[in-house]
Amino acid sequence: MASKPVNTAGLRGQSAGETALCTVGKSGSGLTYCGYDVADLAENATFEEVAYLLFNGELPNQAQLAAYKSALKPMRDLPDAVKSVLKLIPKDTHPMDVMRTGCSMLGNIEPEKDFSEQNQAANRLLAAFPAIMCYWYKFSHDGVEIDCMTDEDSLGGHFLRLLNQEEPSEQHKRVMDVSLILYAEHEFNASTFTARVCASTLSDMFSCITGAIGTLRGPLHGGANEAAMDMIEKFKSPTDAKEQMSGMLARKEKIMGFGHAIYRTSDPRNTVIKAWSEKLAAENGDTSLYDISVACEEFMWDTKKLFCNADFFHASTYNYMGIPTKLFTPIFVCSRLTGWAAHVMEQRANNRIIRPSADYTGSEPRKVQPISAR
Ligand SMILES: CC(C)(COP(=O)(O)OP(=O)(O)OC[C@H]1O[C@@H](n2cnc3c(N)ncnc32)[C@H](O)[C@@H]1OP(=O)(O)O)[C@@H](O)C(=O)NCCC(=O)NCCS
Repeated sequence: MASKPVNTAGLRGQSAGETALCTVGKSGSGLTYCGYDVADLAENATFEEVAYLLFNGELPNQAQLAAYKSALKPMRDLPDAVKSVLKLIPKDTHPMDVMRTGCSMLGNIEPEKDFSEQNQAANRLLAAFPAIMCYWYKFSHDGVEIDCMTDEDSLGGHFLRLLNQEEPSEQHKRVMDVSLILYAEHEFNASTFTARVCASTLSDMFSCITGAIGTLRGPLHGGANEAAMDMIEKFKSPTDAKEQMSGMLARKEKIMGFGHAIYRTSDPRNTVIKAWSEKLAAENGDTSLYDISVACEEFMWDTKKLFCNADFFHASTYNYMGIPTKLFTPIFVCSRLTGWAAHVMEQRANNRIIRPSADYTGSEPRKVQPISAR
């Protein structure tokens, strides 16, 4: 019997290059950064340690981490020119467009002059992204020009403090740290591949990251956490969730936050973030959002054998932390910047321009007819 042809649309299952940064769907829990299991990192490391790991290939020791954090702290503020541009962006703009513009504008003011500045450019973006997001958000929504510097020790804490203008709880800081670790890196996903294609032309770091932000924006990629939130907040109860999802599937609608291009039975990031969602729900006292999310998970597995990806329980987790839904995907940017930049560096270290071919499906060769004869 002839075997079913493999569907390679979307380059599925095809290797498009080598990386030493990450494995997806292979060893351990299914996701490793530089050999470390993501669950191990989420339990035993901080986001800054993971950023250091991705940029340098090894986890830092105590002194290296302290030096790295000290170097990042003064880079948190934004140049006046970037603030001026952010102030011009309307309130109803999608925050991913704000991130894209903020990144690009910073590249105008502080360009990466040559590749010897690549770590500086990556660290600058890492430190400045929370301010790009929150400065625009607070100005456009509350008319407040916030101070972009805080004394918070971690970037996750720094973001929460900029957003809420008050000291975040230790618990929320830890959850943010875990979330940033989970989203940091994921091999040749669409946005990272965008960054690598751009890097392969020997373009600058800011262009690579700006392109990657545009790719992450779509609901089939990073935008799924927001889309999942928009969906679950419409469900009134676990029973209602199952009924409405049944209708969505019948209408052949995609359910955001479920399924994955590579994982087949589970996403290792889900276990970690789901546990935090449950914990925050219990502390919140109102567990309905978590209960509805669990009902969605059960329903999708029972009916379609589809499982939650990293985005689904991020929705309820961020919601329990009081983070506005429109900022969910920009937080993903603050994290994935580390993976993107590490891939840009890796591409540059052993570069050949990425230029695949296409199978032609157009018309046979033909002659141009005079316009009067067409
Ligand atoms: C992630 C995603 C883009 C992967 O796409 P993919 O590689 O084409 O997915 P698969 O090949 O595994 O899809 C197998 C089948 O399940 C369906 N399916 C996959 N995810 C689905 C979802 N979330 N809701 C409904 N159906 C889904 C597909 O339509 C396909 O059905 P078909 O064979 O009838 O065409 C896809 O699962 C999706 O759109 N998920 C929702 C968006 C999301 O959460 N993105 C974040 C990813 S981390």
